[in-house]
Amino acid sequence: MGKKIFSGVQPTGNLHLGNYLGAIKNFVELNNDDKNECIFCVVDLHAITVYQNPELLRNNIYETVATFLASGINHKKSIIFNQSRVGAHSETAWILSCVARMGWLNRMTQFKEKAGKDKEKASIGLYSYPVLMAADILLYDATHVPVGDDQKQHLELCRDIAQRFNNDYKVENFFKVPEPLIQKQFSRIMSLKDGLKKMSKSEPSDLSRINLTDNKDDILNKIKKAKTDSLPMPSTIEELEDRAEAKNLLGIYSSLSGLTLEKSISEFSGKNFSEFKNDLAEILVDKIIPISVEIKKLLEDKKYLEQILSEGHKKANDIASNKLKKIHELVGF
Ligand code: AMP
Ligand code: TRP
Repeated sequence: MGKKIFSGVQPTGNLHLGNYLGAIKNFVELNNDDKNECIFCVVDLHAITVYQNPELLRNNIYETVATFLASGINHKKSIIFNQSRVGAHSETAWILSCVARMGWLNRMTQFKEKAGKDKEKASIGLYSYPVLMAADILLYDATHVPVGDDQKQHLELCRDIAQRFNNDYKVENFFKVPEPLIQKQFSRIMSLKDGLKKMSKSEPSDLSRINLTDNKDDILNKIKKAKTDSLPMPSTIEELEDRAEAKNLLGIYSSLSGLTLEKSISEFSGKNFSEFKNDLAEILVDKIIPISVEIKKLLEDKKYLEQILSEGHKKANDIASNKLKKIHELVGF
């Protein structure tokens, strides 16, 4: 049986290799399987949980759509839409926030990381962010949610919210309890400057990530400057245990080449990092440059991107408003 897929990406700029390998590459494979119904959402309501410059946000929304298309998602097979245009998301998030418990949200590690030491100054939206994410997923009866490893806890919360609602309102299976789809290997791509930190859009140093809009020189330069250690390339998986940078770079190589980690290790075993880096840069250029070129081309035709968002909006809005109507009835509105 086919799966009902839902996933979202925040339009906060700098979409990078982590987003691609952790999530978008998986979206494309799911989209290519004709049995699946896929919905991919540009989650701009999530983006504003930290202040976004309005002009930049508008542009980043288009850039995210362009990235979906350039990576190979087919808008005729999948719904691509923008979260803020479908009012049901915010409204459902409110209703679900009356079902979710403070105790559950207090455990969310992403909030703790993002809010930092001074939680009093974090926005309420940043705190309740996973409830909105649950609304996104549950409105479409998604059965599977492809995400990177960092979203696993949010998905568990979504499952708890679905079950609690079904229980409280005595409606078995009204909300489908979704399964996460997280790659078994390489589901967390790390910074090129620190193998213990996640590759991230918000990291100040651009050298820490490969952006999907980077050109060839950017990629060559970033790989040349990527942090390594002073030992030769490892010969066994065990050796990677405390060599975070080597592990990450080999993981990226494996993921892009489709080779197992074992095969990649044996290909470079005992060699210098510089030799490995040449091959890594080459495969990155091969895979990323066509995407980068296509993103830039698509961004020159905003009318086309707008048309895709508008088609997606109609389809998504039909599904979501229908579900919201049923939620209203159940709740007693
Ligand atoms: P975001 O940019 O936070 O909207 O993330 C979009 C998708 O990319 C989510 O499914 C994330 O889990 C995934 N993702 C973000 N950063 C990474 C990373 N460094 N490694 C793997 N997946 C990631
Ligand atoms: N929180 C996700 C992230 O930062 C983005 C997101 C929002 C999402 N709504 C979603 C992912 C629904 C999957 C399903 O990456």
